[in-house]
Amino acid sequence: MKERLLEIKQKALEQLQNVATSQGLNEIRVSVLGKQGQLTSILRGMRDIPAEERATVGALVNEVRNVIENAIKEKEEYFAQKALEAKLANEQVDVTLPATEIRTGAPSILEHIVEEIEEVFMSMGYDVVDGPEIEEDKYNFELLNIPKGHPARDAQDTFYIEDEKVLLRSQTSPVQVRTMLAAGGDKPIRMICPGKTYRRDADDATHSHQFMQIEGLLVDKNISLSNLKGTFDVIAKRLFGEGCETRFRPSYYQFTEPSVETDISCFVCKGKGCSLCKNSGWITVSGAGMVHPNVLRNCGYDPDVWTGFAFGFGAERLAMLKYGISDIRKFYLTDLRETNVFDRREG
Ligand code: DAH
Repeated sequence: MKERLLEIKQKALEQLQNVATSQGLNEIRVSVLGKQGQLTSILRGMRDIPAEERATVGALVNEVRNVIENAIKEKEEYFAQKALEAKLANEQVDVTLPATEIRTGAPSILEHIVEEIEEVFMSMGYDVVDGPEIEEDKYNFELLNIPKGHPARDAQDTFYIEDEKVLLRSQTSPVQVRTMLAAGGDKPIRMICPGKTYRRDADDATHSHQFMQIEGLLVDKNISLSNLKGTFDVIAKRLFGEGCETRFRPSYYQFTEPSVETDISCFVCKGKGCSLCKNSGWITVSGAGMVHPNVLRNCGYDPDVWTGFAFGFGAERLAMLKYGISDIRKFYLTDLRETNVFDRREG
């Protein structure tokens, strides 16, 4: 019996030494320790062993079982360790590999420039307000000192919706009127209004039937053209750099008196003359002026007490200048390759 047990042990240990898979390990376990296993059947046969030998045989069986169980456990741990190592090796990340590009959305370049301008004005205490795109003739023209039949209307070929009363706003200036009327004639105002505008223009590189303006209005006491100049100077320098110079040229709008065109020094040639500034050294970026007394009066403000200035930027024009975009129609394309070019320009 003793020899048999030692033989079982010897053989099991040899097999365990050579086993290469956990499946093989399990087979050894079953063949030695399982229900029909070699050791189990010896234990079952204990009752046939003479009583005086039982204790020694029993102890030996236990010892052999312990040795084999320990060897199996050791091998199991070895396999588990190997499996873990293999898994880790398999899942290793090569940090030197180029990353996969994650495509994200980005604000349109127009949105971007509007936000930039909003931030500058907000830092000077202006509110950003909104107004309707479907507008009444009286806000878009009449209260702005442009009565029916006035030739100044011709410059803004308008999309009328209902007779001569309701239209797609041809400018953001009606928001000035709405803001003054809402303020009640006795409070100072500082507001800008970015928004879409519409004109019956044939689309080409510099015209679009839909475009975006940024209107501005400041009403207070003792406001003069020099306040407008100072404000414009801050904006121009923030948008186009500290070296940007500004100038006013006389102009004409029905709703401002005096009226001006605001120019910035050409940031390409620094005033020397180039194709962008048509050799003048200057680029026009907005219309502006002192709010006409008639407009103040129409909107409930006493022009003997209150004065103000107003201005209107073309957002596409600013973006075209700043980002070197040559065709206004590009803003209204839905081709993402174009938009991505804008993203890159922003750097
Ligand atoms: N509304 C004008 C236009 O569309 C632009 C403009 C000029 C707005 C002078 C103003 C202003 O507020 O004062 O051509």
